[in-house]
Amino acid sequence: MAKATFKGSIMLNPVPVVLITSRNSEGKDNVFTVGWIGTACTKPPMITVAIRPERLSYDYIKESESFIVNLPSENLVKAVDYCGVRSGRQNDKLKEMNLTIENGTSVNAAIIKECPIAFECKVKSITPLGTHDLFLAEILNCHVEEHLIDENGKIHFEKADLLTYSHGEYYSLNNKPLGKFGYSVMKKKNKNKTKLNTKNK
Ligand SMILES: Cc1cc2nc3c(=O)[nH]c(=O)nc-3n(C[C@H](O)[C@H](O)[C@H](O)COP(=O)(O)O)c2cc1C
Repeated sequence: MAKATFKGSIMLNPVPVVLITSRNSEGKDNVFTVGWIGTACTKPPMITVAIRPERLSYDYIKESESFIVNLPSENLVKAVDYCGVRSGRQNDKLKEMNLTIENGTSVNAAIIKECPIAFECKVKSITPLGTHDLFLAEILNCHVEEHLIDENGKIHFEKADLLTYSHGEYYSLNNKPLGKFGYSVMKKKNKNKTKLNTKNK
């Protein structure tokens, strides 16, 4: 089939969508939503995260050189959206979204208990690119809920009901959209249009 051509733009879809926690020097925790995250290296295990300098999380992560990536299940989709449209400068997002935390074991940041998988990261470099700075970080430690691991030690990510994000919408792995960008703060009138799709559950 013929393909339409577009000028250079971000076409990589879908992407994982994650909650990144960080802590400042006064011990204040924050969380924000990230889609521009990628695996960079197997050994040592490295990831990249692209962060706009205006985010509060940017300041926390730059200062502490640490963060934790929490993989949310689809039941957390509203929190994922909310943490991506509200800033820790004005809101205590962890509290407002009823997310509970425990300390990481390798870095000074919080693990979100409600997320089935989390990994602790140490920043190795920060590269300014344009709108975003690219953080390259080493994964020091990973935490996986035990019910996702079988008797052979295999991790069943497919049982974690993880989310993806594609061109402005959240998807479960069964490809049904769970909500649109911003739906958690939309006025009630529009809310019905983006009601959670609970079919096939
Ligand atoms: C689905 C989604 C993906 C996002 N991905 C990124 C990202 O990769 N990098 C980034 O800097 N901001 C991203 N954002 C925006 C931030 O999460 C948002 O600006 C947030 O309010 C920043 O919070 P903070 O100021 O508390 O750090 C994303 C938002 C959403 C909803």
